[in-house]
Amino acid sequence: MKVLVIGKGAREHAILKYLKKSPEIEKLFCLPGNAGTEKEAVNVAISELDNKKILEFAKKEKINFVVVTPDNPLANGLVDCLEKENIPCFGPTKKAAQIEASKVFAKNLMKKYNIPTAKYESFEEPEKALTFLKENEKYPIVLKADGLAFGKGVMIANSFKEAEKAVQSLMVNNKFNNGSNKIVIEEFLEGVEVSMLTITDGKTIKPLISSQDHKRAYENDEGPNTGGMGVIAPNPYYTKEIAKICEEKIFIPTIKAMQKEGCPFKGCLYFGLMLTKDGPKVIEYNCRFGDPETQAILPLLKTDLFSILKASQEEKLEEISIEFLNKCCCCVVLASKGYPEQFETGFEINFNNLEENTIIFHAGTSFKNNKLTTNGGRVICVCCLAENFKSSITKTYEEVEKINFNNKYYRKDIGKKALILENSNVKV
Ligand code: AMP
Ligand code: GLY
Repeated sequence: MKVLVIGKGAREHAILKYLKKSPEIEKLFCLPGNAGTEKEAVNVAISELDNKKILEFAKKEKINFVVVTPDNPLANGLVDCLEKENIPCFGPTKKAAQIEASKVFAKNLMKKYNIPTAKYESFEEPEKALTFLKENEKYPIVLKADGLAFGKGVMIANSFKEAEKAVQSLMVNNKFNNGSNKIVIEEFLEGVEVSMLTITDGKTIKPLISSQDHKRAYENDEGPNTGGMGVIAPNPYYTKEIAKICEEKIFIPTIKAMQKEGCPFKGCLYFGLMLTKDGPKVIEYNCRFGDPETQAILPLLKTDLFSILKASQEEKLEEISIEFLNKCCCCVVLASKGYPEQFETGFEINFNNLEENTIIFHAGTSFKNNKLTTNGGRVICVCCLAENFKSSITKTYEEVEKINFNNKYYRKDIGKKALILENSNVKV
């Protein structure tokens, strides 16, 4: 089979690496790809948002299966466009992708179907939002842009003054330029965050292994939100008991709700969860594999990845089981200093004697004059597997030191929270 993967990040590099192991796949393409994906697949220089050109390419190359992972092409209806022409895709339709592309859609869905989430109100007019905030006495409070915002559309305000500034930037200056002034204002939830990626065919839902992202740019979860600076998998706070509650109260009700709304969800449905003292609650849905969660999860997967993606598309997920190694994986993101705001690119990347088992995924990389160079905010993901958190974290940070480029920046505390639990001997 000929398979095309859409995207250009480390997540797509990881997906390609594990698809390549499938005996069914004869040729892989990545559109547009990066310097790392070039090793696994043929890179195709077409924009991820040009549905017409992608369709033409898929027809010309007789592509048998397309994996659509990034949020923008999904919200842009790429799956609808290809499947209309009988090209099978892994990923949700445009209508189902609203679960991520519109926070108002997601929050209304959860309210209607009683899925636990933070209390909220939605607003389209800044004056009304400000009136609501003036009456609010509980801070911090969370303000979210309705549309896709590259993971930057969430603002946590500690006072009315900060909230007023957030309203100004989200609604008046329309900071994320997504054509909508809509925002959600919601209750601040306290607890441990868990990323749960699940695979669904619209009827059956199967969770992958749990993980913990580190979204803030700086150590101790400080600084601006990023796409994610590192991951530990599994997430030791996500116990069997919590998993059962999530399945019954969150995962299955969400799949049923999407069916009832006339937009069954097929693909990877990502649940961003907060484990609060009142039980697990949904912070956000993503309509796709998480990045960098995928980079820590796929190295632990025992089952053939392609068979999972195909079972979702063919609506046969019930027939397969998804298995994982009984190990831990730590993934540290090497970024360009200044990310997620201003940063420079174009610096040469050097690798010095990495261990054979170290797993490297490229994000913002490209070849310039035959040299591997930095080409984005998040540059390289470094992952190591081990029997426990301590070894996987130690090994990963040893390898991080062997990769160098100007302005290299990374968080030094990835996995620290998992380690606290491991060291305290709490049985998880
Ligand atoms: P989102 O893009 O919705 O995942 O939000 C980005 C990050 O903001 C989350 O990973 C949380 O750390 C934080 N966040 C979002 N919503 C809330 C909330 N209601 N309470 C506390 N933190 C939140
Ligand atoms: N790592 C969070 C996300 O993929 O949105």
